[in-house]
Amino acid sequence: MIAICPGSYDPLTLGHLDIIARAGALFDEVVVAVGENSTKRYLFELPERLEMVRECTAGLGGVRALSFDGLLIDLARDLGAGALVKGIRFPSDAEFELQMAHINGTVGSLETVILPAAAQWATLSSTMVREVAAFGGDVSAFVPPLVAERISARLHRGVNDNG
Ligand code: PNS
Repeated sequence: MIAICPGSYDPLTLGHLDIIARAGALFDEVVVAVGENSTKRYLFELPERLEMVRECTAGLGGVRALSFDGLLIDLARDLGAGALVKGIRFPSDAEFELQMAHINGTVGSLETVILPAAAQWATLSSTMVREVAAFGGDVSAFVPPLVAERISARLHRGVNDNG
């Protein structure tokens, strides 16, 4: 069965990578689907987020990444995917994911598999990584080295762009 790991990945964290790798062990193929939530402002544009996900998952067999827009149920139909994989950290994640799982199951007959975040990454979020990085903090404990480099380059470029 093909499974989809959807998200914004702004940026990809070690918590995301853990969920993707564990999904890879459960399914024949994993498609990491990088999308846009229209209510969010992103640090990285979609192509940059996709590139980072591709580079950081290149060593994981059976895992590929693509970008998408529209509904996940349509993407799943187009890919022949049978399940979504979602990682959850907090009870609030579970509440939201339960609602999404019911909608995707009802409208698209799409199954959702929920994986608990690894204890090490149980409170990690891309939002926190962006916040720490924005104020010059070291995020290398939370993201792959390549992502840490891109964050540093992105923020440095941003400062220069603003004069
Ligand atoms: O959790 P994120 O990072 O904000 O997720 C972003 C994204 C694009 C993966 C998410 O917003 C999404 O799944 N959008 C597709 C629309 C959809 O199918 N939503 C679920 C049912 S309403």
